[in-house]
Amino acid sequence: MIGGGQGAFIGAVHRHAAALDGLYELVAGAFSSNPETSRASGQLLGLAPERVYGSFEELIHGEKQRPEAERVQVLSIVTPNHLHFAPAKLALENGFHVILDKPMTFSLAEAKELEQIAEASNCRFCLTHTYTGYPMVKEARQLVASGELGTIRKAYVEYPQGWLSTFEEGGSNKQAAWRTDPARSGVAGAMGDIGTHAFNLLEYVTGLQVSQLCADINTVVPGRQLDDDGAVLLRFSGGASGVLVATQVAAGEENNLRLRVYGEKGGLEWQQVDANTLQVKWLDRPTEIRRAGTGYVGSYARHNTRTPAGHPEGYLEAFANLYRNFALSLQADLAGTAAPPEALDYPSIAEGVRGMAFIKNVIASGRSEQKWTEFTV
Ligand SMILES: NC(=O)c1ccc[n+]([C@@H]2O[C@H](COP(=O)([O-])OP(=O)(O)OC[C@H]3O[C@@H](n4cnc5c(N)ncnc54)[C@H](O)[C@@H]3O)[C@@H](O)[C@H]2O)c1
Repeated sequence: MIGGGQGAFIGAVHRHAAALDGLYELVAGAFSSNPETSRASGQLLGLAPERVYGSFEELIHGEKQRPEAERVQVLSIVTPNHLHFAPAKLALENGFHVILDKPMTFSLAEAKELEQIAEASNCRFCLTHTYTGYPMVKEARQLVASGELGTIRKAYVEYPQGWLSTFEEGGSNKQAAWRTDPARSGVAGAMGDIGTHAFNLLEYVTGLQVSQLCADINTVVPGRQLDDDGAVLLRFSGGASGVLVATQVAAGEENNLRLRVYGEKGGLEWQQVDANTLQVKWLDRPTEIRRAGTGYVGSYARHNTRTPAGHPEGYLEAFANLYRNFALSLQADLAGTAAPPEALDYPSIAEGVRGMAFIKNVIASGRSEQKWTEFTV
């Protein structure tokens, strides 16, 4: 693991997710930009001291020297956005598979370069767009792909949070400090941090790609340097249209992610607060409530569920599904067999590039007078 030291947020979530199915063992890390914090973090995690490194460069070069059977196979990179590209590039160039958190890089240029590096390597790559790991999100995607809803016409995604409703970055909140700093977060604040999740969820479930957008981007909290709120009109190739809202100043909201998609014959609705339920709405009959863990859900939802219906799975399991599918794909590669399509269904580098293009285009539209902007990559 690179990043995720003491006091960090998402590193521990990755460790829980990786551990859930017994397919990974944490054996090495460079957990902080401060070598002392890295060592202390590694000690708390019970790692052998010689495999706790002072920097990501030391980790990658150190592990490369170990006999193949002992060396790290997969590197999880959970650093702030400006420190995604360099470790991911070095890892791929040295033959390590990479699991990287979103947004993929600091800029679109870096994302495109990383895509080329990944393609030239023999390594697999996973981008942790957590919400695509939920079983009922998988069910939603499979339902749209089946054509039962008809041609998709309308798609809405909302991601309201409230935790940046005040000037959090003025205090000791490390997570707020880098997310609101253009030198570490990138050109976007909320649109990069949670807008990319919403955008990815929309493209994942609909199977459509955004071709044009029109953004209203705001910085609500005085003194803040990046956007903390925005609404985006979307047009998809093929003619559907949609709306994306992402805000971190909706006071009192937690992580209230909600998705609605409508086709000619019906629609669907999914919310993170009730993640094991998918509502399927029909033009000519009553709404269906589909639940995770039941026998009637499709192969993707089934593959990504561990417990029987009514024993709720949640955020950690959704995250673990990304890790599990990635491991199953690697195991199939090693065995020289084909992984089932359900295992190959995790966000990869192409989604990362689209996420970085979303950030670039949404901020450009927000700043422009003309507003409607071609979605260029
Ligand atoms: N998938 C998700 O749902 C999700 C959720 C939260 C965060 N994230 C992403 O995860 C990343 C980290 O976010 P966070 O909230 O955990 O941040 P954080 O500030 O809590 O943690 C970052 C960690 O990286 C370490 N670090 C910084 N520079 C380093 C370096 N040079 N070498 C090694 N470690 C270094 C820090 O010491 C810290 O331990 C961000 O890119 C963020 O967008 C994704």
